[in-house]
Amino acid sequence: MIPNMPRVLTGITPSGTLHIGNYFGAMRPAIELQAGGDAFYFIADYHSMTVLTEAKERLAYTRGIALDWLACGLDPAKAVFWRQSDVHEVCELTWLLGTLTPMGLLERAHSYKDKTAKGISPNFGLFAYPVLMAADILLFDTHVVPVGKDQKQHLEMTRDIAIKFNQTYGETLVVPEERIAEEVAVIPGLDGQKMSKSYGNTVEIFGDEKALRKKIMGIVMDSRTPQEPKPDADKNLAIQLLKLLAPAGVAADFENRLRAGGLGYGDLKKALFEHYWNFFAPYRAKRAELAANPDYVEQVLREGAERARAVAMQTITRARKACGLR
Ligand code: ADP
Ligand code: TRP
Repeated sequence: MIPNMPRVLTGITPSGTLHIGNYFGAMRPAIELQAGGDAFYFIADYHSMTVLTEAKERLAYTRGIALDWLACGLDPAKAVFWRQSDVHEVCELTWLLGTLTPMGLLERAHSYKDKTAKGISPNFGLFAYPVLMAADILLFDTHVVPVGKDQKQHLEMTRDIAIKFNQTYGETLVVPEERIAEEVAVIPGLDGQKMSKSYGNTVEIFGDEKALRKKIMGIVMDSRTPQEPKPDADKNLAIQLLKLLAPAGVAADFENRLRAGGLGYGDLKKALFEHYWNFFAPYRAKRAELAANPDYVEQVLREGAERARAVAMQTITRARKACGLR
């Protein structure tokens, strides 16, 4: 570890298959930051319990996400990588923080409001989700949390809770900062809304070639003819995704051709699929290699949990002491 490097931490919930929104919004920025040598990345399996109650599914998604992270470049020699539920101290810190978290703060949470509006019947876990997330972050003395824009409010809540703890029990917890890269803050899904596991509009990072080609070719566009010039070419979904997946010059070239007229949407979507498929090709090969070696992956997660627990123990001991717990 390089001294005085900020500690970076992020987590992803194993509640589905990861998509390119997760990749560009959270994973790639996190992987870029691991070079600093003080990076903590985890699979938020306790969090998945707020939306998923099939044990087998949880295990399968957890395994899948472990492969995804490692295939996409998480390097266990540089970053600590573990399963949230292997470090139980996070549950204890959730309680300490929960007793200081105002109901009003949790009632204002967008993700809670969105989920209940969608008909998910709320339970204590869903309501307390931001407190568990605050515990994830505060347990590791985190400075910086790279996430997509949808997590901004959770980060603000984490800061509020940390400040409240420090005011109540004395300076104990590090108050973290969010890191949201503007250009990848919200990756659009196939319907133009935010790409999300829960909206059925995703392009998976790893998936079946035929199915993905079909998904991309099925993107609905407007009914203008290929010849018509399209002055709003920069708003086109395929162009926006190409800017992430193709070399800069290529995306700009397609944008210009669309703007000038003469480029059909079918050809544009074909190019998008090819660039998407090639972009992830090396990671796909790495993932297949890792999938054939489950013992290695398990060992990485166990060693990660040990390293994570060493830090967690220090923080929880400090926090218990501050609260008057022996
Ligand atoms: P989902 O909305 O698909 O359930 P998660 O909530 O599990 O995604 O998100 C995991 C991480 O990926 C978070 O840091 C989140 O901000 C980021 N992320 C998810 N979707 C997007 C998106 N469309 N654009 C940018 N970042 C995203
Ligand atoms: N809530 C995050 C999500 O849905 C996942 C998460 C859990 C997380 N704990 C975290 C992200 C701590 C960053 C830091 O995407």
